Amino acid sequence: MHTNDLMNEIITETMSHEDFARFSKFIYDDYGIKLTSSKKTMLESRLQRRLRNLDIKTFSDYYDFVFSADGIKNEIVHLIDAVTTNKTDFFREPGCFDYLSRNALSRLIESHGAGICRELRVWSAGCSSGEEPYTLAMVLDSFKSRQPDFRFSILATDISTRMLKIAARAVYEQERILPVPDAEKRKYFMTSKDAKKNLVRIVPELRSRVTFRRLNLMERDFGIGEHMDIIFCRNVIIYFDRNTQEKLLNRLSGYLIRGGYLILGHSEILTNMDVPLERVAPTVYMKKR
Ligand SMILES: C[S@@+](CC[C@H](N)C(=O)[O-])C[C@H]1O[C@@H](n2cnc3c(N)ncnc32)[C@H](O)[C@@H]1O
Repeated sequence: MHTNDLMNEIITETMSHEDFARFSKFIYDDYGIKLTSSKKTMLESRLQRRLRNLDIKTFSDYYDFVFSADGIKNEIVHLIDAVTTNKTDFFREPGCFDYLSRNALSRLIESHGAGICRELRVWSAGCSSGEEPYTLAMVLDSFKSRQPDFRFSILATDISTRMLKIAARAVYEQERILPVPDAEKRKYFMTSKDAKKNLVRIVPELRSRVTFRRLNLMERDFGIGEHMDIIFCRNVIIYFDRNTQEKLLNRLSGYLIRGGYLILGHSEILTNMDVPLERVAPTVYMKKR
């Protein structure tokens, strides 16, 4: 039997309810992510691989390891990787990108000189493997071709170091770029020299517009000194409970200029939340003046 198969055989232990409760409490308290009991099997199966790699036999031993000095330094990132859902796409939920090109960007230029008197600052919070910030970079660069003095920078953050590595490398399978319009495909992607590889990479000029950084949205201090003109936080708060969502949206609003934009995902609704934002288009909110 192959060693991995053998290890699969050895780990038959399931996660006890107590262990699940301990993991989910930590993940909720420190990362805001709510794991209902229906997620137990998901967590268990995602963590099996970590237990195998570390040669740890039980979830209880794994819990102790996570909170050992070595674990706190090196293992928590893997635990969080196992918990987060990273689904994303280029030009996902595209209505908001149209709204930016047709309305928001010219309005920000008019009201704040954003992008002309100074760089336009955009933050993709919860950027996963990079498709969202690179889509933004394409949209903003296309806007620049109509308005040559236009300047912008994009900060892209996520809690998952695994996703951030993929994002910074900017190499994707050809199928991933199906939603990208043809003109953008030609302009912003390089194809692999080895045609069999079926890979594409974002061109260096576009990559250089995006800075990736690990950031936990539950941290007290985001370490961001400047106000943003636009914040994308799409399909991230959906994993948080309502109270955590409201707090986070207030904090994100604090990082926006007045009249700046916050973009959420389609299923993220602000009804009855006490936040200084008004809806200006589906999924697009403006910070009240
Ligand atoms: C479903 S993806 C959404 C990606 C992209 N925004 C989109 O809409 O296509 C959610 C991302 O949020 C990140 N995330 C979850 N909790 C987080 C937290 N507390 N701090 C920062 N990022 C977090 C996950 O790692 C994941 O990459």
